[in-house]
Amino acid sequence: MLLQPITAPEATRRHIRLLLLRDDLAHPELPGNKWRKLKYNLKAARQAGHDTLLTFGGAFSNHIAAVAAAGRLQGLRTIGLIRGEETQPLNPTLARAAANGMQLRYLDRTTYRRKHDPDFLAELLRETGPAYVIPEGGSNTLALPGCAELVSELTTETAFDYLCVACGTGGTLAGLLTGLAGQHQVVGIAALKGGEFLRTDINALTQAATGRTYPNYDLRTDYHLGGYAHFSPELLRFIQEFETQYGVLLDPIYTGKLLYGIFDLLRHDYFAPHSTVVAVHTGGLQGWTGFRQRFGSRSAWWPAGS
Ligand SMILES: Cc1ncc(COP(=O)(O)O)c(C=O)c1O
Repeated sequence: MLLQPITAPEATRRHIRLLLLRDDLAHPELPGNKWRKLKYNLKAARQAGHDTLLTFGGAFSNHIAAVAAAGRLQGLRTIGLIRGEETQPLNPTLARAAANGMQLRYLDRTTYRRKHDPDFLAELLRETGPAYVIPEGGSNTLALPGCAELVSELTTETAFDYLCVACGTGGTLAGLLTGLAGQHQVVGIAALKGGEFLRTDINALTQAATGRTYPNYDLRTDYHLGGYAHFSPELLRFIQEFETQYGVLLDPIYTGKLLYGIFDLLRHDYFAPHSTVVAVHTGGLQGWTGFRQRFGSRSAWWPAGS
């Protein structure tokens, strides 16, 4: 586990040790929270005798990319239900998923919203044949123990006071909470607009996994910077500066907002002086190829003057 010190003046002025946990380097195809969330799901799929995984995601989804790679690596068939219309040529995320053997099917946005509906799932499985269903983002009860393992690994490396992570569905944060078992403070930065509902989802996940909810987290819903896939110039400038300063590329959906939020919180004296803050780099970098293709080369869409 690599813990990279980020010696930002925003942190050092209050004697705060800011560490970036480079979980993005954990695996080339299943980085960050991806392997952690899939690990026990893959085990359960095998134990139940399944040879096929079926899951859901958007066209640039890190989770779709990870399930396709996991399927190839573990010799399982994979089916990806993709939100929206098919576009050809496939974007790099879907092209890679298809090359990894994933069968891609497309659901219009209205149908996609039924992704949790048991009747709809039963109907789907009648069409595809039996499969182990993993929800969007891989966030189910079995995603939590894998994420909890990050805490035990981290605890052997360093003492810390805050653990900060980006939230999409909240499964990773829920897993960290179960691993911490009420110790320390977790800060979640919601990547999407209107992320207040995540509190209910996070509490439901920890309740289902461990029979309790945990109060030791603060979900910040004010750092979405315009919304889920809204790449604001402010965010892009921050990502560029962070890479220049610390040599680490962040992604514009999750980890860019995470570090942007942490820096803002540091400026507002949110963290106690002399504390250790660990930010988890959960990966997500596979999306860059597609984002660049969509928005032009970096220099073309990087904010002017930066
Ligand atoms: C790179 C990255 N970071 C963070 C998250 C957020 O994880 P979660 O959906 O478990 O909240 C995701 C989404 O799965 C992701 O792809």
